[in-house]
Amino acid sequence: MSIHIGAKEGDIAEVVLLPGDPLRAKFVAETFLENPVLYTSIRNILGYTGTYKGKRVSVQGTGMGIPSISIYVNELFKEYGVKRAIRIGTAGALHKDVKIRDLVLAMSACTDSGANNIRFGSRNFAPTATFSLLKTAWDIAVSKGWQPKAGAVVSSDMFYTEDPDEWKLWAKFGCLAMEMECAELYTLAAKFGREALCILTISDSLVTGEATTAEERQNTFTRMMETALETAIS
Ligand code: HPA
Repeated sequence: MSIHIGAKEGDIAEVVLLPGDPLRAKFVAETFLENPVLYTSIRNILGYTGTYKGKRVSVQGTGMGIPSISIYVNELFKEYGVKRAIRIGTAGALHKDVKIRDLVLAMSACTDSGANNIRFGSRNFAPTATFSLLKTAWDIAVSKGWQPKAGAVVSSDMFYTEDPDEWKLWAKFGCLAMEMECAELYTLAAKFGREALCILTISDSLVTGEATTAEERQNTFTRMMETALETAIS
């Protein structure tokens, strides 16, 4: 039994979806999975296991930011033998061609996080998606006509930055979107030899200052979920 998840061996599927928001984990489990069973509620960070099209799938909240997702993903990989982890989340657009509601597949994740400085010192690791998952998700989204975008994202430690223009440096280097967890997921997947992908819906734009309405979020959420679940069981 791990410290923060505390589930029994076998409670968690080999394939796990990872929303930041624990209530989104509950919503996903109750909306998209058959027979969902709650296996953890420690600190109100919820985790469920059910089935999707007959295959076992878990959905585990991670909380926000790299230190939080790091705890959950470490335990999932190390203590529960999770083989495939797919983050589902929101992100802010950094590029004028990345629009509100767009689906972004994170090929790689730049980061300003302290985590990889602690691990690698002056070396720079390149957190990268698992190509087969990226390709599967891309093919699914393209076949549905959802026009996904794939490229580098930025996993930042700071939502409220000191310099409001900080994102522009990342934008200049072609990063598509800003979020707060992907680099750690990809780094841990590399460390443990597991598969990982981060599928994002654009909720706001740092370029234009726009944000999504609740209704728009719901529609795009369904697209992200279908892409994630079909990729999860592929
Ligand atoms: N920054 C960081 N994380 C985010 C953002 C953002 O602008 N939007 C959604 N998640």
